[in-house]
Amino acid sequence: MYRVDSPGRVNLIGDHTDYALGYVMPVAINLYTVLHAQKDEKARVYSQIFREVKEFDLEDIKKANDWADYVRGIFWVLRVEGYKVGGMRGILGGDLPIGSGLGSSASIEIAVLAFLNGAYGLDLLPIEMALLAQKAENDFVGVPCGILDQFAVVHGKKEHVIFLDTDTLRHEYIRFPGDVQILVFYTGVKRELSSSAYAERRKVAEETLRLLGKRTSKEVEERELRNLPSLYRRFFGYIVRENRRVLEARDALESGDLQRFGELMTASHWDLARNYDVSSEELDFFVRKAVEFGAYGAKLTGAGFGGSAVAIVPEELALDVAMRVTDEYVRHFNWEPDYHLVSPSDGVRVRKV
Ligand code: GLA
Repeated sequence: MYRVDSPGRVNLIGDHTDYALGYVMPVAINLYTVLHAQKDEKARVYSQIFREVKEFDLEDIKKANDWADYVRGIFWVLRVEGYKVGGMRGILGGDLPIGSGLGSSASIEIAVLAFLNGAYGLDLLPIEMALLAQKAENDFVGVPCGILDQFAVVHGKKEHVIFLDTDTLRHEYIRFPGDVQILVFYTGVKRELSSSAYAERRKVAEETLRLLGKRTSKEVEERELRNLPSLYRRFFGYIVRENRRVLEARDALESGDLQRFGELMTASHWDLARNYDVSSEELDFFVRKAVEFGAYGAKLTGAGFGGSAVAIVPEELALDVAMRVTDEYVRHFNWEPDYHLVSPSDGVRVRKV
């Protein structure tokens, strides 16, 4: 039998840039999807979170609009791409919350793919795993996501942040200081990533590139947006500024300037909120309070529209910030959020047990 530990991810800066082939800075986090599995003729998976078994026909894989689509999607994409695998019998569990914006879809996809890669000897490179999982999500599940989540889940590195150019797929690791904590805060507001809002932004970004005759957002200057329709100008203006911020954030982290790194995160949040229309009252509340109570910086993380936010906090203040923000949040929204102090973790790991 195999055991796969597949992390979640949090993006520290560079959101909604990946589908415009810009820069991102995620970490894999130490909250995991855990898959125990062995080869089988059929495909049969139990989810400890949903407490149900799903079985499906490998000869006729169809989307069923439930959690097992992330499993089905991996079998589907392997078949479409010409890889030969049999079935699996497995149990999915772990402590990574599902549907809170911490990359749980990518984490499940990569868990299943890493198992199949090991058990059926597919010899996939890490980057091939990330791209296959992204294709499963795009073309089977139907979410037009970029490469951010799948890349981080595969390439995460303990004590390091990933700096990724989503165009060339070249990445670097930057050491994350040991005396800084990452606070992840789930607002409790469910997020519908497959909703039209995400797809609309992706479409606007692609259309803007087409109108400008550019291939990636990295090549675009804000002044070139002058003659575009105002929504395009506003949305793509955010992407252009965010790319710059990610580059500056990389420099700040490399030189140990956490203050500046944090300021860039917070600036990213307010730009997302004001110009990209993907924040919410709850996310804004968290960002404002986390900074007020001593975080270096805070922002929504991932797609937004609810979901989770992230703050980086000096270690000695971390618990205090987490608890004070939560108290105020409960008082204001009458709703108990979920929060985790996490650290950068290694990417997916497969072991025989
Ligand atoms: C989701 C998508 C990613 C990325 C983020 C926003 O997490 O899956 O590809 O676009 O939103 O940065």
